[in-house]
Amino acid sequence: MAIVSSGEIQAHSPSSKARTRVVDAVPMKEEMNSSREDGLRPRSLDDYIGQRELKKVLDIAVKAALGRGEALDHVLLYGPPGLGKTTMAVVVAEELGVKCRVTSAPALERPRDIVGLLLSLQPREVLFIDEIHRLARVTEELLYPAMEDLRIDLTVGKGSTSRTRALDLNPFTLVGATTKAGSLSSPLRDRFGLTHRLDFYSLEDLQAIVKRAADLLDLPLTQNACKEVAGRCRGTPRIANRLLRRIRDFATVMGTDAVINDQLVDEALKLHSVDHRGLDGSDRRLLQMLLEEHGGGPVGLETLAAGLGEDAATLEAVVEPYLLQLGFLRRTPRGRLVTNAGRSHLGWPNVQ
Ligand SMILES: Nc1ncnc2c1ncn2[C@@H]1O[C@H](COP(=O)(O)OP(=O)(O)O)[C@@H](O)[C@H]1O
Ligand SMILES: [Mg+2]
Repeated sequence: MAIVSSGEIQAHSPSSKARTRVVDAVPMKEEMNSSREDGLRPRSLDDYIGQRELKKVLDIAVKAALGRGEALDHVLLYGPPGLGKTTMAVVVAEELGVKCRVTSAPALERPRDIVGLLLSLQPREVLFIDEIHRLARVTEELLYPAMEDLRIDLTVGKGSTSRTRALDLNPFTLVGATTKAGSLSSPLRDRFGLTHRLDFYSLEDLQAIVKRAADLLDLPLTQNACKEVAGRCRGTPRIANRLLRRIRDFATVMGTDAVINDQLVDEALKLHSVDHRGLDGSDRRLLQMLLEEHGGGPVGLETLAAGLGEDAATLEAVVEPYLLQLGFLRRTPRGRLVTNAGRSHLGWPNVQ
């Protein structure tokens, strides 16, 4: 199956030094549009680890569509970056035995971009639109009749002589992906037959993902080493893959031919300041500042940001979410607070 890519897939928000963190779930420049990520992508539902509920739902929907010889219903996938949305679109196309056309909303700025793409779709093909919450208004309005009635309405001519022409489309499946389901307009959201949220992966699933990727990368990781990587990748397969590449670099440079154990993983990732829960320097600096300068908090976000030389929005969007998820940090009406779990992670005594 070919993946046809049209246009650049762009990073979600480019504006910070925190962007180059090894634990960032958003693809780095060299990971975008690249065969690198593709090489590690599962190709079938069986190969796709975790997200069991989503897999079950799609398995039944795909089999039903195949049985009836129809296109699969449109699918909306939402959830944090790096959890397997693009991968699932490719897998679904593979299961349907059709091509997956991959594009993203920022590449569909002009009406003719989406019109050309829709007209080129063969029966039952999958059209994947990443970052679908960023669609231009005109593009979105062209999509409504396409999704609902397999029709696009084109206006030809200008002024009083202009008229609308309807063009028929082949049946197709739109798979949309977004990290911000809330930013989607409700008419668009309502046109998806299947909507599903992807969750962070369990440690067990991550271990299986790490094992699978390590095998594909020809990295002889011990079971404990897999566990160690799984615990550091912040619930996110994309980060697991990236950590594995850093470990492979380290092993290559050290000339290690033997199996890679948890100790070697620790050494390799220490170089990137990634600790055993997946915190990096930015995360630990934030907690440390709170503890050392503010007695653990609560302290306002702006004060914290000023102290760290970061802007508050970046801190809130890029650094805090994982700390909150781990329960190391709490947002209170009076500001940010380090929890006892956060304190003990940094070796500080608990407080009542
Ligand atoms: N369920 C999974 N099993 C194994 N690997 C996965 C899984 N989900 C994602 N990956 C890996 O993580 C990488 C990033 O996934 P991707 O689908 O691009 O995430 P998203 O589109 O949600 O940002 C993929 O290249 C793939 O190797
Ligand atoms: Mg993606």
